[in-house]
Amino acid sequence: MQHETDRMIIREFEMSDWTAVHRYGADLNIMKYAIYHANSETDTRNFVMRAMESAEEEPRTEFERAVVLRDSPDTLIGGCGFSLEDENDREWRIGYCFHSDFWGNGYGTEVCKSLLQFGFCDCGAHRVSAVCDIENIGSIRVLEKSGLVREGRFREKSWGLGEWHDELQYAMLDSQWHENQSSPS
Ligand SMILES: CC(C)(COP(=O)(O)OP(=O)(O)OC[C@H]1O[C@@H](n2cnc3c(N)ncnc32)[C@H](O)[C@@H]1OP(=O)(O)O)[C@@H](O)C(=O)NCCC(=O)NCCS
Repeated sequence: MQHETDRMIIREFEMSDWTAVHRYGADLNIMKYAIYHANSETDTRNFVMRAMESAEEEPRTEFERAVVLRDSPDTLIGGCGFSLEDENDREWRIGYCFHSDFWGNGYGTEVCKSLLQFGFCDCGAHRVSAVCDIENIGSIRVLEKSGLVREGRFREKSWGLGEWHDELQYAMLDSQWHENQSSPS
């Protein structure tokens, strides 16, 4: 199963993708705010394997997918995640990571918006949330440009790279999503 944005295809991972994933997963400059460490080859292979396994689960509660360019489908530029945080509350969580060669082109925002649409239209989400490091300016911009609302700050939420990190929580509600769809932009 895959879906498309204007410039990208979001598709299931295949095992052979791991080398392209590793090109960003092993780079600490890219991963420093996402997971606070660089992946080993084993980490990356396990990540891709786990993503492929989750695609087989029924009902599906995790969508960890590869992002490739429509104009160049062999170019895997990153990945995005959409997972069920709480079934009863219908809360889903967004994640994304792209190789730095592709940052600053609006790809992150385009994918984030498509995940919101997927969540509210296809998954019946009530809330779609995301957390990000308070210093992750790029991710903060992606979330705010996509219309998520900053709800709070978790102090010293994560330990990584020898220090504590504050995290911001963002979310959009289904009511806001539908309101945004019906109001002219
Ligand atoms: C966060 C990330 C997904 C953004 O992707 P992207 O494709 O560059 O996103 P966009 O181009 O849609 O938007 C990025 C915005 O952040 C801005 N930005 C990025 N770094 C910035 C910085 N250091 N200071 C100020 N603005 C910055 C860009 O200028 C752009 O804003 P603009 O459109 O107003 O100019 C990408 O940087 C990434 O993959 N990072 C590594 C993984 C990660 O941190 N994931 C998120 C975990 S919560």
